[in-house]
Amino acid sequence: EQINKGKYEHYMQKEIHEQPESLTTTMRGRLIRAGSCKAKTVLLGGLKDHLKTIRRSRRIVFVGCGTSYNAALAARSIVEELSDTAVFVSQSGETADTLLALEYALENGALCVGITNTVGSAIARHTHCGVHINAGCEIGVASTKAYTSQIVVMAMLALAIGADTLSNQARREAIIDGLFYLPRKVKAVLKLDEEMKDLAKLLIAEQSLLVFGRGYNYASALEGALKVKEVALMHSEGILAGEMKHGPLALVDENLPIVVIATRDSCFSKQQSVIQQLHARKGRLIVMCTEGDKASVSVGGSSRVIEVPQVVDCLQPVINVVPLQLLAYHLTVLRGYNVDQPRNLAKSVTTQ
Ligand code: AGP
Repeated sequence: EQINKGKYEHYMQKEIHEQPESLTTTMRGRLIRAGSCKAKTVLLGGLKDHLKTIRRSRRIVFVGCGTSYNAALAARSIVEELSDTAVFVSQSGETADTLLALEYALENGALCVGITNTVGSAIARHTHCGVHINAGCEIGVASTKAYTSQIVVMAMLALAIGADTLSNQARREAIIDGLFYLPRKVKAVLKLDEEMKDLAKLLIAEQSLLVFGRGYNYASALEGALKVKEVALMHSEGILAGEMKHGPLALVDENLPIVVIATRDSCFSKQQSVIQQLHARKGRLIVMCTEGDKASVSVGGSSRVIEVPQVVDCLQPVINVVPLQLLAYHLTVLRGYNVDQPRNLAKSVTTQ
C-alpha cells in the first residue's frame, strides 16, 4: 500500500494529526459498554488465555526503548495503583506530593511503610510502619547524606523481606558484608575531593553536563545530574545508557562533557561499548570506573577517569554518587552560587 502525505507537508505532521483516528482504531472492539447491566469492561482477545496467570504475578515488568520506554513509564502508575503495599521515602517526611500519595494509598487500603529522616514528621506519623533513616539533620537544600542513607535503608528492607528465602542466602550475605564495609569505602571515595575540584575548574563555564548510567547506576546518573542542576545551576541530565542510540547520541560532539559511569557490575561490558561509541563520535568523556580499571575504560587515552572503590553491585550507587556530589559542590562554589540555598528552592516542598 502506497502511503502518502495527503494534505500534509511531512509524515510526522500527518501522524500527529492522525491521532484521534489511530486511538479510535486502537480501542475498536475492545471497550465493551453495552449489555443488560450496562457493565463496562475491556476485552483483549490476545490475552484471554493468559489473564489468570498475569493476575497471579507478583510483579509486571515493562521493557521498551526510547519513546516506548517513556510510554511504559507513563503507564506504570496505573499498574502501581493496583498494588497493595506502598513505601513512602522522604528525608523531611513533609513533602506535600508524597503526603498526598500517602493519603491516596491509605484511602485505598494499602499497607503504607514510611522511610524518613525526621522523627515525628507527617509521613512517619501517618504510615502504618516504617524505618527511620537516622542520617542526622540535613540542612543543605541539596540532599546528600539522606540519599545514601535512604539507599541503605531500602537495601536493608529488601534483605528483611527476603530473609526467609534459602535460594538467595549467599547473595544476602554478600550484601550484608557490603553494608558492613560501606562507611570505610565512602571515606575512601571522599578522598577524591581535590580531584573533583580540579574537574569542576575545567567545567566551570559549561552550559550542560550529561551523565550516563545503567543498571543500579542509572539512579546515580539521575541523582548526580540533579545535584549539578540544583546547586551549580548548570543544565544536567541523567541518561539511561541503553537509551543512547534512541535519541541522546545526537547531542554528542567534542564540546559537551559527558560523565559515563562504568564501574564493575553486570553492565560493565555494555558501558565499555558505550564509551567506545561516544569516543568514535568525538565525545568529551569523563569516565567513572572501579579502582584499577583505568586501562579498561580509557579509549585512546583521551578521556578523564575517576577511579572509585568497589562494593557489592547493589550498594555501588552509594559510592558512585559521592564524586558527583563533590563535583556539584565545587562547581557551585567556583561559579559563585549559594550552595546551601539554591535560588527558587526550599529544603522541603510543603505546598503543591
Ligand atoms: C534533593 O537534592 C532535592 N532538594 C529534592 O529533590 C528533594 O529530594 C525532594 O524535594 C524530596 O524531599 P524529601 O526527601 O524531603 O521528601
